[in-house]
Amino acid sequence: MKPIRKAVFPVAGLGTRFLPATKAMPKEMLPVVDRPLIQHVVDEARQAGIEHFIFVTGRNKGVIEDHFDRQFELEMTLLERQKHTALEFLSRELPAPGSTSFTRQQEPLGLGHAVWCARELVGNEPFALLLPDVLVQHDRSCLAQMMDAARGLTAPANIVAVEEVPNERVDQYGVVGVGERIGKMFAITDMVEKPPRDRAPSNLILTGRYILQPEILDLLGHQERGTGGEIQLTDAMIQLARVQPFYGLEFEGRSFDCGSKIGFLAANVSYALARKDIAPGFRAEIKKILDEINGGSAH
Ligand code: G1P
Repeated sequence: MKPIRKAVFPVAGLGTRFLPATKAMPKEMLPVVDRPLIQHVVDEARQAGIEHFIFVTGRNKGVIEDHFDRQFELEMTLLERQKHTALEFLSRELPAPGSTSFTRQQEPLGLGHAVWCARELVGNEPFALLLPDVLVQHDRSCLAQMMDAARGLTAPANIVAVEEVPNERVDQYGVVGVGERIGKMFAITDMVEKPPRDRAPSNLILTGRYILQPEILDLLGHQERGTGGEIQLTDAMIQLARVQPFYGLEFEGRSFDCGSKIGFLAANVSYALARKDIAPGFRAEIKKILDEINGGSAH
């Protein structure tokens, strides 16, 4: 299988679930501890060896582009104030010159449409797709685990990260049906976007990490509408699965659905507790809050 050098990040979504926080600020810029969601996801891709970062943006998303650029005034101020650690942090996280591309999804026609908008930038090679609503916490990034699995394959193949959720939540996600196990992966036999609970093929859902062959872009070009009247990536993927190998990888790590308030807050708690510089103080604060609440409710 050809090496995977490019990753696509669809960042055009409106973020209505986080209004009013997202009225003037993209949801992808909401911070988990001290970095925006999109930075966490770009870091995941970088750890997996991705060299080119393609963002599918929309109106009011300009600050995402600014975030991945240099900020000379800030750098000068930090330098004058001898804030070397902060400066080093900024430069370490800055993508290499020319390694980012931005294109726009002009209308909110669905995830499949957003991915299709990146077709010219992706070209004729396999690519990774990472949804910035989802964070996966683990020492080895989720995409890196998928790359490890891809390296074991000779023929061009597609890989999606899958995980189990309780049955009552399957209707919120893309759901897969799986067949035989091949090493750490399963052959995908079915894929449905947000099925009613009684029609879901399993309780294994698509987590939001994909390695896809470029043929998916041709299928998306047919612009067929699916669930919610949107052009669904899941529908194009099941078509591709009929003609190309398609695998699901049950990755290691804990995922956070940061598109929901609870998932976003849980991610903040978990990522803060994983930080040596923050964890001790934060843990003490949480304990204090819980003790006060529990103490209060006893009366
Ligand atoms: C999207 C995908 C879905 C996937 C989910 C993961 O849905 O369409 O298949 O399971 O992301 O978060 P969305 O959350 O954008 O509705």
